[in-house]
Amino acid sequence: MKKFLLIKDKIKSFNKKISIDGDKSLSVRWALLASQSNGKSKAFKLLKSEDVINTLNCLKKLGTKVKFVRDYCEINGSGINKFVFKNNTILNAGNSGTLGRLLMGLLVHADKKVKLIGDKSLSKRDFSRVIDPLKNFGAKFNSKNKKLPIFITGTKNPRPINYIENKGSAQCKSSIMLAALNTPGETKIKAKKSRDHTELLFKYLNLPIKIKKTKKYDYIKIRGKKKIKPFNYSLPGDISSSAFFIVLTALSSDSKILIKNVNINPSRIGVIKILKKMGVKLLLKNKKNYKGEKIGDILVKSSKNLKSINCPTELNSSAIDEFLVIFLVAAKAKGVSYFSNLSELNHKESPRLNWGSKILNMMGIKTKLTNHSIKIYGDPNLKIKNFIKVKDFLKDHRIFMMCVIAALTFGGKWKIYDPESINTSFPSFLRIINLLKK
Ligand code: S3P
Repeated sequence: MKKFLLIKDKIKSFNKKISIDGDKSLSVRWALLASQSNGKSKAFKLLKSEDVINTLNCLKKLGTKVKFVRDYCEINGSGINKFVFKNNTILNAGNSGTLGRLLMGLLVHADKKVKLIGDKSLSKRDFSRVIDPLKNFGAKFNSKNKKLPIFITGTKNPRPINYIENKGSAQCKSSIMLAALNTPGETKIKAKKSRDHTELLFKYLNLPIKIKKTKKYDYIKIRGKKKIKPFNYSLPGDISSSAFFIVLTALSSDSKILIKNVNINPSRIGVIKILKKMGVKLLLKNKKNYKGEKIGDILVKSSKNLKSINCPTELNSSAIDEFLVIFLVAAKAKGVSYFSNLSELNHKESPRLNWGSKILNMMGIKTKLTNHSIKIYGDPNLKIKNFIKVKDFLKDHRIFMMCVIAALTFGGKWKIYDPESINTSFPSFLRIINLLKK
């Protein structure tokens, strides 16, 4: 792929039906849980992005058999905590916080030393959020400032823990849940609401989990388990990837899109709720259940008269990966939008709250930024005329895709670096853009 992408023209009107690459959160979770099962599991439509390929590569290094056969991926698991690997094995989580943090949960019981590394972006990110709870199981973690590289030495005698997860981090919650699976006794987590794919998979697999839900927190109890049945899974489309096309359509004129078979799990659809409040014409259709998850089609039409929003903070966690494109809608909305309690956004693949603001400013949109909030002064008549160069954003896939959507909808001449970043989460992104241009 080239070093940068040049965009000089807005997209013309389109009317298309598309499918989106598989859900990243579910793809990583399927692979990790399949590796702990006894026997062969298959995944159809598994997301073949770098985060998922890195997941499979880490599992292979831990002795798990993984292969691609025709249209599916097969993992032959040897059971819970049955990884076979050499002392000082190096595992590379690449760009993926989900992989790094969830894998650490499984490694709490590893009988040999592991070194976990990642790319430049992941090496800047916080791992104290998993080290702090996981060390209570009895494992040892050595690192500088609780960042990668981290050396992990598991324990033979794990003990269950009680933990309050206060960030609304599904990665942290899931990491503890995976560690609890191989721990005798009951682990209790009080977790601030976040995506619940791990819980749903545990339930689907009949693992010993109990959940009590309140408005803000979920109270999760997990008992250790000796065996997990292998399981097949067909991955639905990823709503985080869909969000780029939802916003592209909403901000384009005379256009319409139907995105087929997307995971619309209630803990992931903050973006839909927020965009609807802002006046985006959006409909969920053909809703059905799949192994505990909710799946549906998303119909979006060009949307005029967009309204600003004072975004309810309780929607933050369920829209955390979509704020960059939500900010683009705010840029075109009438009035001032306000998003707060969003410091977590600066802990993603790049400091996204800061980057989001910077890109809006380059587009000619006024913002007021703090370390946890942003005010966006919308301009319904925004038409970009100048040249915009976006570079050095730690190859954050979602920054790249946000800029492509901005260029195609607001105009201007854009030079956007690091197109290969899309391979992290959404390898088909530019192919689908080109499909809409035909
Ligand atoms: C994810 C959880 C979220 C999200 C990330 C994927 C997951 O991170 O931003 O892209 O699959 O569990 P946090 O749990 O850190 O909020």
